[in-house]
Order: sequence, then structure tokens, then C-alpha cells
Amino acid sequence: MARFSRRSFLHFSAAASAAAAFRVMTEPMLAAAARHTRPPHAADAVMIDSNENPLGPSQAARDAMAGIIPLGGRYSDNLTDDLVNTFAQMEGLNPDYVRATVGSTPPLSLSVLAFTSPQKSYVTADPGFETGMMMAGVSGARVVKIPLTKTYAHDVKAMLAAGPDAGVFYICNPNNPTGTLTSHADIEYLVANKPKGSIVLVDEAYIHLSADAQSALDLVKAGDDVIVLRTFSKVFGMAGIRCGFLIARPELADKVMERGGMNFMPVTAVVAATASLKDPQLVPERRRINASVRQQTFEWLDRNGYSYIPSESNCFMLDTKRSGKEVREAVAKENVLIGRVWPVMPTYVRITVGTQPEMEKFQAAFQKVMKG
Ligand SMILES: Cc1ncc(COP(=O)(O)O)c(C=O)c1O
Repeated sequence: MARFSRRSFLHFSAAASAAAAFRVMTEPMLAAAARHTRPPHAADAVMIDSNENPLGPSQAARDAMAGIIPLGGRYSDNLTDDLVNTFAQMEGLNPDYVRATVGSTPPLSLSVLAFTSPQKSYVTADPGFETGMMMAGVSGARVVKIPLTKTYAHDVKAMLAAGPDAGVFYICNPNNPTGTLTSHADIEYLVANKPKGSIVLVDEAYIHLSADAQSALDLVKAGDDVIVLRTFSKVFGMAGIRCGFLIARPELADKVMERGGMNFMPVTAVVAATASLKDPQLVPERRRINASVRQQTFEWLDRNGYSYIPSESNCFMLDTKRSGKEVREAVAKENVLIGRVWPVMPTYVRITVGTQPEMEKFQAAFQKVMKG
């Protein structure tokens, strides 16, 4: 493999310096903006506010990172090529369609910058993950927020109707914050009926956590105007290590990635990601653990008469039937940090599924606040 391959050595562009000036909003920044207690927070605080994975990196990923540290003085971009090739082979993709990224926040932000403008709107679900909305604001685009359907799927027909000028249709599947699914048939419908020149940006940050979710990678392979985002921050427990993928036709991928300028991937992230992909037990095992803790939490909520939106992911929306913001503040005083509130659902708070002991602490704190 060439030492400076096209994939790992991104092109500079005029837009790169402009992108550097923008404030890219990540999940922890959004979570931090919504709370007053983190940072600083007590060392023993239960942190179920940022959709992190409390299990952290797998043992194989930890070993791989430890092993690469002595070689950290070198760029070793061939390791990024190994990661891309590993993923491409597993998914039956041409490696030219796969770009390794530092988490999925950068390719999400850059995709929105690349395909929206004052003339090209950004169409998203409400409630939905906010990073793209903020970047649409940076590019001066109209932000079109469409309520989820009654089953909390993306309402693709309403999204199409509201966005004849769309540059980007953003689909988060499973959705953040609801953890609910949008069918593959609906995504296909959106792709087939979208305005010419627009893209469908499918954010699959949480896809591994749902046994039923169907990836949109087949649409990328079919040559459609679809960009898929993946991250190692969720099921793989590497949020602080930073690795992800953008997957799209090479000309779409180039158009996005050139806005980020030139950089190398951190070798620790790359080897940890490759080791994670090569462990066939990791995804099923972690999906099982998350589903089991989530189910036990739902059963506790049912027994205690609380309402929530059933989720397929590592987060869910809990209806407090009062001001969600006040409940969040009160629960934080019990040393449990829960997630933010979306303006469209002001009585709901987003809860991340932590470990079973963490969820038991959450239950005690929540019960105290609600009964207090
Ligand atoms: C839907 C969604 N997309 C993207 C991200 C970005 O994650 P990261 O940059 O850690 O890959 C997150 C983080 O929580 C998310 O929830």
C-alpha cells in the first residue's frame, strides 16, 4: 500500500480553512451545554447523559492500543488503510467508498457544510440529533424540522413535501434521542423521490445496538446519493478514542472530506477499531448486555407507573409529566447525570442505558425526585 494513499492523505481545499473556524458540536458538548454539573462532577457520579458505553474498549482494542504506543512517533497511515480494508471486506464494499474519520462528528458536520447552503435546506426529524442542525446554521441553510410519526419513525413523506429545496435529508437510524427505527423501505422511498442534487445522510451511530435495524449500506453500493456514517463511539465503547467512517460513492466522499483539510488518523484509534471489528463476539455480546439492562429498566419503569418511549438503542425518552429540565436538575443533585430535553418534548428527558448498578442508582434518584 502506498505510504501516502488517497484515502489516508486528504486533500486541502479552500473550504478547509473556513471549516477550521467553525465550532463543531459533538454529543459531549451538547450534553455539557445541557447540564451544570459536568464538568466538574463528582468522581462517582452516574453519567447516563451522553450515550456513552460504560464498558469502554474491548480487551482486544486495549491490547492493540497498548501495543502501538511505542510506535506513536510515526504517522503509520498504512494502519488506516488496514482498518478501511478490513471494514470494506466485511461489508462487501469497494475500499474507495470508505473513509476513516475521527469519530462521526466531523463527517456529519462536513457533509452538511458540503451539501447545504442558503439555497439548499437541511431536513431533519424532530426530535433529532442536533449537530447537523447547527452546521446547517453555519452554512446559512434553512433548517426544516419534521415531527416523527406516531411510531417515532422519520416521516419521510412529510420530509420530502417540506424540502423541495433540500440539500440534505438527515436520517438517524436508530434515532437519537428516541432510539426508534425508520424502515429500510421508507429510506428507499426517500432516496427514490428526493430532489435532484440532494443527498440522504444516514447516521448509523447506534445501528449495532438494534437487532432489527437494517443498514443503508446497500443503497451506497447501488450507487445512490446516500452517505452512511458509522462510529466506534457506541457499541465499541471508544467515544474517547475517536474513530468512525464515512461511506459513500467516491465523488460524494471526496466532496465532503476535502472540506476537512488534510490529516492523519491517530494510530491508537485505528488499531483499536481494527481489533474491535475482528472480534466476532463483540457486537452480539454488547447488544445483548445493553438490551438486557434496557429491558430491566423498562420493567422497573412499568412497575412504578412511569411512561417512556420503547427504544432499540442505548438511550430512551422518559416522560416525567413535568418540566424535564427541572427533573434533570433535581436528579443531578442526587449525583446522577441524565440527558437533555428536546424543546418539542419538554416533559421528556433522555436516559442513556448504563450498567445495571448505574441504572439502579438512577432508579433510586429518579424515584426520590418524583415522589419527593
Ligand atoms: C446520532 C449521532 N451521530 C453522531 C454522533 C457523533 O459521535 P462521535 O463523533 O463520537 O462518533 C453521535 C454521538 O452521540 C450521535 O448520537
